[in-house]
Amino acid sequence: MKRIGLLTSGGDAPGMNAAIRAVVRSGIYFGMEVYGIERGYAGLIEDKLIPMEMRSVSNIVQFGGTKLRTARCMEMLTEEGQKKAVATLEKHGIEGLVVIGGDGSFRGARVLSEQYGVPTIGIPGTIDNDLEYTDYTLGFDTAVNTCLDTINKLRDTMTSHERVSVVEVMGRHCGDIALYSGIASGAEIIVVPEVAVNMEEIVSSINRSRANGKHSNIIVIAEGVMSAEQFAKQLQSLTTYSVRPTCIGHVQRGGSPMMADRMLAAQFGNKAVRLLNDGIGNRAVGIKDNKIIDMDIIEAVSMKKVFNYELYETLKMISM
Ligand code: F6P
Repeated sequence: MKRIGLLTSGGDAPGMNAAIRAVVRSGIYFGMEVYGIERGYAGLIEDKLIPMEMRSVSNIVQFGGTKLRTARCMEMLTEEGQKKAVATLEKHGIEGLVVIGGDGSFRGARVLSEQYGVPTIGIPGTIDNDLEYTDYTLGFDTAVNTCLDTINKLRDTMTSHERVSVVEVMGRHCGDIALYSGIASGAEIIVVPEVAVNMEEIVSSINRSRANGKHSNIIVIAEGVMSAEQFAKQLQSLTTYSVRPTCIGHVQRGGSPMMADRMLAAQFGNKAVRLLNDGIGNRAVGIKDNKIIDMDIIEAVSMKKVFNYELYETLKMISM
């Protein structure tokens, strides 16, 4: 393969820039020409391509966001949009494509591979950690660390005022950000889309912890359940302790990637290009049991995310 394309799509995630760098440098290492596509599939449809030289990716490994910018592209769901995307690839003689993004972006990649025969490799880039085939997605670790930083600060003020803090993190369908930031911050309760909310149990757990000498409580809630504000309102009507909501919001999508995400970025990016260099397409790269893996992209997008109930139970046993 002599010429490949690269795009970032969907919600950005810390580590995307490091992955761009790894793809560009690996491509150049194998003697390929690498074209960056701006604004995800929208840029592919609109022919927004830029040649990526070796130095074009200097000094980006440490930054959040994506140098190529990103978009959620509805047109890519239509046959017309898909045909335009393929026409751009053909016009520039691009023989293979690397797509860095989440679930929705992988579906676009699947269409390109399956229906139009474009060898495509998916790199899981999303803070949500909602892809079952990989243990971790790029950006998840940094997002959780950002949540931890906020929760640490909230704990200071909540303890001084003996309050209950309700912290909303991202995750519409997947509770992993709430689960991991809840366990790692020592939160007492997490509320996730995968488990039905039991307000009575939450109130009893707060009362128990106060009777045991606690001065504050942290509840981490995933946005998919309800907003922190709504939850705090409901809880306040059931308790005399003072409740305060905080929504971390898009802060958790930015910032300098942590070591874990930079390492994933380097390995995912390199693996994607090595696959294309071997003439292999239509794969999704990931990490399973600490090993970099690749699997059929169609199979990868078909897998349903399984919530880690064991970790959820662990939280209940150690936070009281
Ligand atoms: O998919 C990543 C994500 O950050 C989700 O966790 C969140 O629900 C969504 O994107 C927010 O999307 P937007 O940036 O379009 O508001």
